[in-house]
Amino acid sequence: MKGIILAGGTGTRLHPVTLAVSKQLLPVHGKPMIYYPMSVLMLAGIREILIICAPEYHDQFRRLLGDGSRLGLELSYAVQVTPKGLPEAFTIGAEHIGSDSVALVLGDNIFHGSSFSSVLEENSADVDGCVLFGYPVSDPERYGVGETDEQGRLISLEEKPVRPRSNRAITGLYFYDNDVVDIAKNLCPSARGELEITDLNRNYLDRGKARLVDLGRGFAWLDTGTHQSLTQAGQYVQVIEERQGVSIACLEEVALRKGFIDADTCYRLGEELAKSEYGRYVMRVAQEFRDVPALPYV
Ligand code: G1P
Repeated sequence: MKGIILAGGTGTRLHPVTLAVSKQLLPVHGKPMIYYPMSVLMLAGIREILIICAPEYHDQFRRLLGDGSRLGLELSYAVQVTPKGLPEAFTIGAEHIGSDSVALVLGDNIFHGSSFSSVLEENSADVDGCVLFGYPVSDPERYGVGETDEQGRLISLEEKPVRPRSNRAITGLYFYDNDVVDIAKNLCPSARGELEITDLNRNYLDRGKARLVDLGRGFAWLDTGTHQSLTQAGQYVQVIEERQGVSIACLEEVALRKGFIDADTCYRLGEELAKSEYGRYVMRVAQEFRDVPALPYV
């Protein structure tokens, strides 16, 4: 399975902060925002990842993440000149996807929960149709909303409905089979003049090929769309990290625990950032891993 991170858009709700910097590069408690969705794809075991961003930020993303080889990844970059909607990721990324299945994650979505790696691995294997991830929220009208029957099967999907049929938001993480490339190519813009991911997902639903995985209330899916939600996301990460002494979305740690890099490489990557708390954490994780290599992913 290939991965795509969509990190385009203009971040208008965060102006003036995002007038000169990409939203997905803003810090969320000590890490650039894009580290969080990147870690999600890595936890799913995906190593070939395309990052799609606005042309003016292409160089910054590349400076931050390079070709990914240091983390055992293959990263490539593409630009979205004027945002025409999320499904454009599959036309821009058609060559990258090739004949494979694909995971799309939005560059401003933050996920955190135990056993997430297993949930991702299980659901990304042999995707036939699409897999959507649902999460209960208090303001479903702001998102794509999924309705299920008594058996938990998806029966309807709506984008930002005025009267939502459920409180289950469809998060910004999607797994698709290869049909997505053709479906995206033939999609028509909605009344808002944009291509909608919900229309694309409804194409799968209508053919009985859309599956919903409920992330449930014990999980955290956080928004970073406004200053308030961005601050709250940072606070959440801070509380968990300080309480547990473990880092959320530390890419070097994820690469180490997934077996993409070895402990020596991980230690060296930490040393390069040793003046920061992040770098010292990476060194400590590598050191502990050398002592007890079978340490489970936490
Ligand atoms: C987009 C999708 C929406 C989804 C959300 C998740 O909305 O259109 O269906 O629930 O991402 O973050 P946007 O944030 O672009 O308004």
